[in-house]
Amino acid sequence: MLMATPENNLFTDTHIAFIGGGNMAGSLIGGLLHQALNATHIHVADPNASQLERLCQQFITLHTYADNLSAVRDVQVVVFAVKPQVFRDAARPLAATLAKNRPLIISIAAGIPEKNIRRWLGYDAAIVRVVPNTPALIGAGAAALYANPIVSSAQRTLAEDIFEAVGLALWLDDEVHMDAVTAVSGSGPAYFFLIMEIMEAAARELGLPADVARKLVQQTAYGAARMALESQDDPAALRKQVTSPGGTTAAALKILEAGKLREIFLNALTAARDRGAELSNEFGKEGS
Ligand SMILES: NC(=O)c1ccc[n+]([C@@H]2O[C@H](COP(=O)([O-])OP(=O)(O)OC[C@H]3O[C@@H](n4cnc5c(N)ncnc54)[C@H](OP(=O)(O)O)[C@@H]3O)[C@@H](O)[C@H]2O)c1
Repeated sequence: MLMATPENNLFTDTHIAFIGGGNMAGSLIGGLLHQALNATHIHVADPNASQLERLCQQFITLHTYADNLSAVRDVQVVVFAVKPQVFRDAARPLAATLAKNRPLIISIAAGIPEKNIRRWLGYDAAIVRVVPNTPALIGAGAAALYANPIVSSAQRTLAEDIFEAVGLALWLDDEVHMDAVTAVSGSGPAYFFLIMEIMEAAARELGLPADVARKLVQQTAYGAARMALESQDDPAALRKQVTSPGGTTAAALKILEAGKLREIFLNALTAARDRGAELSNEFGKEGS
């Protein structure tokens, strides 16, 4: 992970504008500031005054704007952090200014192909499409990045450094995989939260005090994730290592397998992937 230090002045001269100041923008801004990006170099535009207020309370010195155009005038990077449904309407009024200044465009909108963004902006924009996730807020994000051929190697490095500042950043050569990434890591934290929620509720049903249930589930999730990250073994091998034949873990796993947990997850991730493709069709039709 990149750490901004006096010797590493990557962010010193880079101004970044966020179009949309919601959950993901907040996560990314939090992570970037944690890595010592100067808050005065962050510009956030959002028509929702309460979102801007929330960000200002959290991150005191960043610049906020009610209109998008003011935010993008003098920046090297523009991050579109709006919902896919509003992307086109947010992008089109900025086209002339962006065409003149040619900043790097970063899109985190699920399911919007870079060719649609180029069409909406009306010039051969350098675009990096990214699927991030919310643990970016604590520097533990997982992001997959795809750069169109117009992106320069310096811009590629900049995009990578921005997302490495908030976690893992992996490049994909083929944009076709972005919907699958959305299904796996973009939406992924919610699956783990659901499992933690379910385990906590079950622990309470088994009679554990609520605070004990919560702490045990949290630490178990953290410990399992750390073991998976730090071990040379794959998750299946790690699972087998903690499952004695005829033991307690085996009894639990038998129920989960009988409940077709694998099939349920495959169906769930396929639905998320397909929703990404649907959004792309819905909001990116030719001529729109
Ligand atoms: N949340 C995740 O875990 C996650 C993960 C990966 C990718 N993403 C992607 O990240 C993007 C943002 O998601 P989010 O969860 O951060 O959404 P969000 O919390 O709803 O934030 C979007 C913000 O954009 C504002 N907005 C609406 N129209 C705008 C416009 N024309 N110009 C500027 N801002 C405008 C919204 O205001 P209003 O509230 O008034 O509409 C809202 O404050 C989405 O495209 C999503 O697909 C999200």
